[in-house]
Amino acid sequence: MAETLAFSRGADRKTIYEEMAPQIEALLAGETDVTANLANAAAALKEAFGFFWVGFYLKKEGQLVLGPFQGPVACTRIDFDKGVCGHCYTTKQTVIVPNVDEFPGHIACSSASKSEIVLPLFDATGEVFGVLDVDSDRLDDFSETDAEGLGRIVKIIEAAVRANYVS
Ligand code: SME
Repeated sequence: MAETLAFSRGADRKTIYEEMAPQIEALLAGETDVTANLANAAAALKEAFGFFWVGFYLKKEGQLVLGPFQGPVACTRIDFDKGVCGHCYTTKQTVIVPNVDEFPGHIACSSASKSEIVLPLFDATGEVFGVLDVDSDRLDDFSETDAEGLGRIVKIIEAAVRANYVS
């Protein structure tokens, strides 16, 4: 696996998503351990984009349970019908929240978090087995560029871990 990441520091996010997608694919290739792969994916996204918080919640024991992440400590368990993560899980859609204070039921793990994007991770049968959650300490920090760029990376992560994920 690659030991260092190469990306254009200071470039626009679209450019960095394009640079990072193949590197994340290479980073996860050949490793079957789910925790190891999700941990490296979170670290790569944190390093490339400097996100305030980036990590995974995984379907486990009838809830979404905190998985590998980078950033401040976070809430450990989210009910399927709660928060932005639960909304993503139940609707199976990417959710962009420009202002978390205006999202009914938003779960504030940190008062510094201002906007958020959450993407579903699908197993081979089309069921959601987890979500990728990215938080920003700036309002309105996520756009369709992030939905597309992270969406491409989520497909790579799904392919690398879904065969080995046991909820
Ligand atoms: N804000 C999320 C909870 C997870 S933290 O942001 C890390 C939510 O409302 O689901």
